[in-house]
Amino acid sequence: MPLIPDRNVIRGMESLDDAGVYKLRDDLAIIQTVDFFTPIVDDPYDFGQIAAANALSDVYAMGGKPLTAMNIVCFPAKHMDISVLKDILRGGIDKMREAGVTLLGGHSIDDAELKYGLSVTGTVHPKRLVTNSGARAGDKLVLTKPLGTGIINTAQKAGMASKKTIAKVTKCMASLNKAPSEVMQEFEVHACTDITGFGLLGHISQVAQHSQVGIRAHVDSVPFFPEAKKFAKEGFCPGGLHRNREFYSEMVEFSSQVPDYMKDIFFDAQTSGGLLISVAPEAAERLLDKLKKAGVQDAAIIGEVVAKPRRRTLVE
Ligand code: CO
Ligand code: CO
Ligand code: CO
Repeated sequence: MPLIPDRNVIRGMESLDDAGVYKLRDDLAIIQTVDFFTPIVDDPYDFGQIAAANALSDVYAMGGKPLTAMNIVCFPAKHMDISVLKDILRGGIDKMREAGVTLLGGHSIDDAELKYGLSVTGTVHPKRLVTNSGARAGDKLVLTKPLGTGIINTAQKAGMASKKTIAKVTKCMASLNKAPSEVMQEFEVHACTDITGFGLLGHISQVAQHSQVGIRAHVDSVPFFPEAKKFAKEGFCPGGLHRNREFYSEMVEFSSQVPDYMKDIFFDAQTSGGLLISVAPEAAERLLDKLKKAGVQDAAIIGEVVAKPRRRTLVE
């Protein structure tokens, strides 16, 4: 696709980052992103919250502040009660309120399959922008939410997940990446991205590729839902997980002691996952401490950035 050259584009189509960034003035840029998808939980209100938190996350991942949003709605009006849509939108609005984001409008179409999400606009000082291409050898990698939501959602669709498990995972997916983003902005952070459809290893591989570095991830320190381990062992593997494994396997090496269920969890596509932050080693423990004090309880140092081999990830 031919691109229109524009010197105010800071992050565009070709940079494959979390969001687009466009410079308005030397001290101000806008961040733009859009995300919408089909329901991943049964409760419409919860789905609205999760979809909104997921859409807002790309602005947080770039160190920005989301300001405004527009609803995107595909709704099968002939086959579904309108109260379902009302509940979804209410969930979305409650999340936007929590984020301090103003809903300006939106667009809805009649569609056979229900979908909901947001386009979000935020701001950032161009010098304070955090991309996925700045990771440096020696950095520590911090992950702020546990993995395994895709595996658990698949088990839920098969009726295998308990109410308690569903509630726990829903709460995690619906939680904003606002607090971790604000904490990260107080530190010398070199790179950040949020963990979504490509799974931990897909997004790590993108950081490795764009930053021209290698990565070592430690299986024992990565936070995940214990239920994901159980369901992975029982064979619940969502389609996204398979696609991620096929696509990213050649950039990843597993040491022999990594169990199969952990490989599944590492490739598992996440919805509204946590931030993956690459931070100078001397600041890593303080960052972790501040994250926990800000209520980001699951945050953990999960690995480090190495100079070589470039563009490769070793899981050990
Ligand atoms: Co993203
Ligand atoms: Co996105
Ligand atoms: Co319109």
